[in-house]
Amino acid sequence: MPEVHGWAAWLEHTELAVWIRQDLWLYPILEIVHIVGIVLLVGPAWMFDLRILGFAENISVVKLADHFLRWSRRGLFLILPSGLLLFITQAATLVANPVFWLKLSLIGLAGLNAWLFHRLVFTSVSSWDSHKATPVAAKMIALASLMLWVMVISCGRLLAY
Ligand code: HEM
Repeated sequence: MPEVHGWAAWLEHTELAVWIRQDLWLYPILEIVHIVGIVLLVGPAWMFDLRILGFAENISVVKLADHFLRWSRRGLFLILPSGLLLFITQAATLVANPVFWLKLSLIGLAGLNAWLFHRLVFTSVSSWDSHKATPVAAKMIALASLMLWVMVISCGRLLAY
């Protein structure tokens, strides 16, 4: 993909990318923002998934979704801008790295999985909101969510070496 690499090389030579790369503090600050965003997104998502898998059946799924998934979405406002800014500092290396594309694909799958949850199972939540077994489809989606986020985090860690 030479044209993509050319575009990526241009990106990492922009003033912004050079500034972030050369400044002593900017890069580590962006990494911290990225990680705080990950905590906000993945932490509540995991707790919600565990509830769907059958833990703490006394807690209402609707109330948990309202509180936890709201914070998960807010996490994206930290993860996406910081991720993009980290990306531009080493764009050419990253676009040539299959782990980077795997990570983005897994993020896409995790998003699709969350959409499926809302589309397929959350619509009937009133019949299994609390003190009831969650549908098998919901459990499968929750398990997929747990695994997808572990894989996204693993890819992120591999990129940071
Ligand atoms: C949405 C969920 C995401 C998760 C869970 C995630 C997770 C991670 C993790 C765990 C790290 C390692 C941090 C470290 O050890 O210092 C990382 C690094 C990184 N992430 Fe993400 N990330 C996400 C989204 C993105 C996006 C959308 C981009 C950009 C397109 C991105 C770009 C990067 C880059 C470039 C690094 C490497 C930083 C370095 O080399 O120090 N991330 N990510």
